Amino acid sequence: MEVLQYLEVQNINPALIRDIKKFREQYPVADEVKHRVVKPMMPFYGKEILEMGIAAMLQKENLLLTGSKATGKNVLAENLAWIFGRPSYNISFHVNTGSAELIGTDTFEDNQVKLRKGSIYQCAQYGGFGILDEINMAKNDAVSVLHATLDYRRSIDVPGYDKIELHEAARFIGTMNYGYAGTKELNEALVSRFLVIDMPDQTEETLEKIFAEAFPDGKPEMMKQFMGLFMDLQTKAENGEISTKAIDLRGVLAALRTIRQGLSPLLAVRMGVVNKCFDTFEKEIVEDVVMTRIPEEWKTSDIFEG
Ligand SMILES: Nc1ncnc2c1ncn2[C@@H]1O[C@H](COP(=O)(O)OP(=O)(O)OP(=O)(O)O)[C@@H](O)[C@H]1O
Ligand SMILES: [Mg+2]
Repeated sequence: MEVLQYLEVQNINPALIRDIKKFREQYPVADEVKHRVVKPMMPFYGKEILEMGIAAMLQKENLLLTGSKATGKNVLAENLAWIFGRPSYNISFHVNTGSAELIGTDTFEDNQVKLRKGSIYQCAQYGGFGILDEINMAKNDAVSVLHATLDYRRSIDVPGYDKIELHEAARFIGTMNYGYAGTKELNEALVSRFLVIDMPDQTEETLEKIFAEAFPDGKPEMMKQFMGLFMDLQTKAENGEISTKAIDLRGVLAALRTIRQGLSPLLAVRMGVVNKCFDTFEKEIVEDVVMTRIPEEWKTSDIFEG
């Protein structure tokens, strides 16, 4: 099976792989939601983090993934759903997220009031993996409707309808970035219902794997320069010389894709990295780092194989 192969290549503990296999056999997926079991666009790299996530899911825990932007929180959540062979439901939290969206809302159908089931309800029913994306964007009282869902009660009280129990295979994975505009502190009672993984900074090892996966046609010595650029900036941010605005792996990967499209490397990096700083002083520092890594005269053909 493709999933098990992926886990073996990642060198995941065989005891975990064995139990994932059991889990998958134990919980077949209903036909009507099979289309929601999807292979993610990219694998998650990072054995330790993956093992932490898998162990939590096996033990019926919910998982909260915290960390800065582009550290792979959503990639990890999607991979976990796929590893466990479950339908996934992505729920983007925002200031107006409320119980109607999460649990359900009354609608009129055939002259009757019926419940239009929200995403959490559907997870409960089908044993889905609910990805509670940017969970700290929502107001705490909106999220408090999930307290009974997320703890040992594993139930949802649907106002005006019944109380329903969560399917044995249902799990919830929250993601959050702290400190961003619009985010709130999660209240302790909510955090208490999750195991928390603080996503680590990228290491050279994970970067190499991500780049090799995304750009198999990239010239290896050139890919090293782009990884080096990212690592240089990450180090500068760790040392407090710059903020984390320019530390955006997503931006570096996007820049490389526009280079492959034919754009000059320097212009591409300006869009993907440099222009993410709005402070002129900081921008200059970032530009200096870019200049040492990416010479102006480089072209697409220097970076990618014909
Ligand atoms: N460990 C990793 N394994 C695989 N890909 C990764 C990893 N870390 C980062 N990435 C890359 O970074 C990109 C962003 O990942 P993702 O969307 O999961 O980040 P995020 O942590 O959810 O960020 P945000 O907080 O901004 O939503 C992905 O497209 C992927 O290419
Ligand atoms: Mg995300």
